[in-house]
Amino acid sequence: MAGNVDALYIFLLIVSGLMTLLIFTAVIYFAARYRHRPGVRAEQIEGSTPLEITWSVIPFFVFIAIFLWGAIVYFKGRTPPRDSTEVYVVAKQWMWKLEHAEGQREINELHVPVGRDVKLIMTSQDVIHSFFVPAFRMKQDVLPGRYTMAWFRATKPGTYHLFCAEYCGTQHSGMVGDIVVMEPAQYEAWMSGGTGGPLSATGEKIFAELGCATCHRMDSQGRGPSLQGVFGKPVLLQDGRTVTADENYVRESILDPGAKIVNGFKPVMPTFQGLVSEEQLNALVAYVKSLSNAGAPGARTAEAAPAATPAKPASKGSQVN
Ligand code: CUA
Repeated sequence: MAGNVDALYIFLLIVSGLMTLLIFTAVIYFAARYRHRPGVRAEQIEGSTPLEITWSVIPFFVFIAIFLWGAIVYFKGRTPPRDSTEVYVVAKQWMWKLEHAEGQREINELHVPVGRDVKLIMTSQDVIHSFFVPAFRMKQDVLPGRYTMAWFRATKPGTYHLFCAEYCGTQHSGMVGDIVVMEPAQYEAWMSGGTGGPLSATGEKIFAELGCATCHRMDSQGRGPSLQGVFGKPVLLQDGRTVTADENYVRESILDPGAKIVNGFKPVMPTFQGLVSEEQLNALVAYVKSLSNAGAPGARTAEAAPAATPAKPASKGSQVN
């Protein structure tokens, strides 16, 4: 994004610079030209419609151009490509905890390969932080209680500074890290160095341990909706609304199950607020994602997904029950 952001920024500087020059030149010229002279009476000039239209219409188009350009850069920067590699970020006072979908965990360091789209799924376990990588022209607030997203594609190997850009307490200034961008081969070597298995597999284990599977059965005969193929799809709710099953939806359904009841089901699920850590939540989200083809393939989850048949219509049927 750096090139796009810089081009827009330089354009704004040039437009502002030209306007400043124009205004100051006019001020100085008019001040000299129409200065008070003894014996000369001021002549009153009425407005000029063509002149006023001109200086309204030209800036209008300039501002519209800036707006459209900015909007395009913004939406590009805000929309992670579909096949992005996913990395979960948990911020806390005062460190960054990062976990790859493949299971690697890092603190204050993120290793990524050059040229790959990386989507960050971020949350905070205490206060508001902000994930800021100046070299990537990327900054996104990280909030407690919800996920925020960001993405980047590093184009040059190297080490880039990561800062926290939201004052978050005593050691805010020390909440820094590095994004290490590696050549793909180097990255593969780094990746193969020890992991507890993919994040979705961890999530599957937690899913079983917490007893989620007793209600969220794969055969859609459970008291809760089957989660097979749900992620990324629209979900019809009891109150008639339709929401998309994204990361925040899954998160909310775990922590505040009563907030969005799937049509055809009863609000019987207990909350897991306080029972699961942010890391466990991320793993559960990654697991639910792995049950759906719509999830990002960046998560290498094929081996982690249970052997159940991908019964896509099942989830739909259970909603109507
Ligand atoms: Cu975290 Cu400032």
